Amino acid sequence: MIIGVPKEIKNNENRVAVTPAGAAAFVKNGHQVYIQKSAGLGSGFTDEDYAKVGAQLLDTIEEVYAVAEMICKVKEPIAEEYPLVKENQLIFTYFHFASSEALTKAMIASKAICLAYETVEKKDRSLPLLIPMSEVAGRMAIQEGAKYLGKPTGGRGVLLGGVAGVKPANVLIIGGGIVGTQAAKMAAGLGANVTMMDVDLQRLRYLEDIMPANVDTVISNEYNLEEAVKTADLIVGAVLIPGAKAPHLVTRSMLKLMKPGTVLVDVAVDQGGCIETCTPTTHENPIFIIDGIVHYCVANMPGAVPYTSTLALTNATLPYALQLANKGWVKAVKENEELRKGLNIVNGDVVYKGVADAFNLPLEPIRLEEEIPA
Ligand SMILES: NC(=O)c1ccc[n+]([C@@H]2O[C@H](COP(=O)([O-])OP(=O)(O)OC[C@H]3O[C@@H](n4cnc5c(N)ncnc54)[C@H](O)[C@@H]3O)[C@@H](O)[C@H]2O)c1
Repeated sequence: MIIGVPKEIKNNENRVAVTPAGAAAFVKNGHQVYIQKSAGLGSGFTDEDYAKVGAQLLDTIEEVYAVAEMICKVKEPIAEEYPLVKENQLIFTYFHFASSEALTKAMIASKAICLAYETVEKKDRSLPLLIPMSEVAGRMAIQEGAKYLGKPTGGRGVLLGGVAGVKPANVLIIGGGIVGTQAAKMAAGLGANVTMMDVDLQRLRYLEDIMPANVDTVISNEYNLEEAVKTADLIVGAVLIPGAKAPHLVTRSMLKLMKPGTVLVDVAVDQGGCIETCTPTTHENPIFIIDGIVHYCVANMPGAVPYTSTLALTNATLPYALQLANKGWVKAVKENEELRKGLNIVNGDVVYKGVADAFNLPLEPIRLEEEIPA
């Protein structure tokens, strides 16, 4: 198959969908890889790195879309890319269709096959192509939180781990899923006093078993949360209710209960945020202060560490991308239910319920007769 890897052109996006190791794997499996020049630079991979493993470099994004049967990307196509997407072309990337009607309509009109990372789903309902970015964001939440606890940025001036004779900081993590667990590990490793809250008692039992001694678990309810925010130095919002907006668990009135200079990192901001006063920020201007409380609400946290994020993402995507290339998308989704769940739009038909519901579009069955041309 002919695989195309365009350079990401969304603002501040430095990840790339295929690493030199990935390109080597495609070539070894008999495929041709066309990558746009400098596509890997933001993640630390040079054009030579790709050329050495047999990938072919193209000057423009137009050439990549024109030649490819399968486009491997990171972010959804943006408006400039809509006209480049071709009928029957397989596009394997994050789409998040429900958040953009324009994108949905453009991909329907293109008659391409849109296979979305975020809806590839395992039998246990986990989302294997979202997990790596949650892992990155969870770990980053503590790194960033620790930084903004410094006095120069409005923080309390507290060192997470304390020192001999001085107590460590209190870190409160709301939500004990992927983000929360990774955040807790980092905070605990730095020596902080960590409290994890979740509504899922089963999950808390598991966390209690695997976490180090400086991590406590507490059931999440309004009363316990109000108590916990009073003593916290750093609070991480890591809640997810699948398919729904995040609930505002930390309310504006709770800010008054907190110590001045407390830092809030709302990782769930991409789903509306679980801290009422959080609104999305960017890596250029990551924080703002309300009532003396520092808010960090960057909606694309992994974007700041493209090297790690690219490797984490491609470790997870490559095995699926290889199946698509080796078998063609029809055979691949027939044989792999996880990949089949990733199909969102096929040749102009919306085949994923969440997307159809979001824009009142008819939900069509997945028709698997047609193959993409070899
Ligand atoms: N900002 C970013 O860059 C970024 C990056 C990755 C993920 N995220 C977001 O982080 C959030 C968490 O993702 P995840 O992968 O950890 O999800 P997850 O499903 O693994 O974990 C969510 C946890 O929240 C818990 N929860 C639900 N309601 C709760 C409540 N009322 N109180 C306490 N806990 C509650 C669930 O039981 C679950 O354990 C999501 O909104 C995700 O989109 C953001």
